[in-house]
Amino acid sequence: MKVAVIGGGIIGLACAAELMRAGHDVRLFDPAPASGATHAAAGMLSPAGEAWHGDEDLLRLGVESARLWPEYAAWLEATSGHDVDYRRHGTLLVGQDHDDLQVVRRTLDVLAKHGIAFEELSRRELRQCEPTLSARAGGGASLPDDHSVNPRKVAAALLALLDRRIQRCRATPSTASASVDGVLTDDGRTISADAVLVATGYALPDQVPQRRYVRPVRGEILRAHLSSGEGLTRTVRAIVHGEPVYVVPRAGGEVVIGATSEEHGGEPVPTIGGIGRLLDAARTLVPSLDRAEILDVVARNRPGTPDNGPLLGPGGIDGLYLAAGHYRSGILLAPITARILREHIESRGGSCPTSSADPFSPGRFDRRN
Ligand code: GLY
Repeated sequence: MKVAVIGGGIIGLACAAELMRAGHDVRLFDPAPASGATHAAAGMLSPAGEAWHGDEDLLRLGVESARLWPEYAAWLEATSGHDVDYRRHGTLLVGQDHDDLQVVRRTLDVLAKHGIAFEELSRRELRQCEPTLSARAGGGASLPDDHSVNPRKVAAALLALLDRRIQRCRATPSTASASVDGVLTDDGRTISADAVLVATGYALPDQVPQRRYVRPVRGEILRAHLSSGEGLTRTVRAIVHGEPVYVVPRAGGEVVIGATSEEHGGEPVPTIGGIGRLLDAARTLVPSLDRAEILDVVARNRPGTPDNGPLLGPGGIDGLYLAAGHYRSGILLAPITARILREHIESRGGSCPTSSADPFSPGRFDRRN
């Protein structure tokens, strides 16, 4: 099939690569691929560490996608020749004080209910796992199956794979007699397609009926460099005196500290208040961060939805498909999203065998109203 993908963040890139792998004729349109939320993402493949009460369909989808990641990362590296820094060291969930530990225990209750592996750790056991954690970190749990990847490297690998299939311009779906038949580019070209997949995060084109359900949620994040021996071996996700924070180690002594989460109307800029809160929480958790060199500070909009879940599947107009609204989980959900959208497109809007996608149909909010 001839497929046009609008949007070159991790989701659009992964969907385009999957369709290309399946033998379809793919074009992807984005004026600046991988420069939105993908550029700010920490790369936690952490369905357990980000599990919340009430988001249990999302937990199932996330666990399924996390299981695809080892093979996906190996395939990406082998076909693109790019390393993606896939790390299997697991994640520690930490509560700093007594109240923070109650929040951690609520997450562990959700994991126990779903049979997801974890091991509770005392203050002493935490420090045995990660000696650079503060001696005051109260306790927590180890999540062995929550891994991580470097999203900028994943994007570089996907960009290399797709290469000349990427057109650096804006495009919108073009419609003819109530169906979508291709795209219109901002340099005036009309390109026909059997299917148009919109993967533009929170900024859906006017033609997409579900655009009112996706909103920007600002996230601020920073990258720093620590001398060898002062860093962490695994991701730490913590609540520190009520403030959520995570620290994700990467190759070469780099760490990512994130992330704020803020509803706002304007451009996503890093703020003194947001970065200050993150740094206070991160330094309390890992005191050696005091000596870390700041490499960059970034803010981007996450694509939020009313139930925190993505929009996956037919977009309400013949020929139109959506893979958008991935909120906090774009990197984690990239492989499963790519598979689900390929299945939908190949069945021309019919059924999709991956049943964990059922709760995420783009029409669900209209049906609830
Ligand atoms: N998944 C991490 C974040 O959205 O900050």
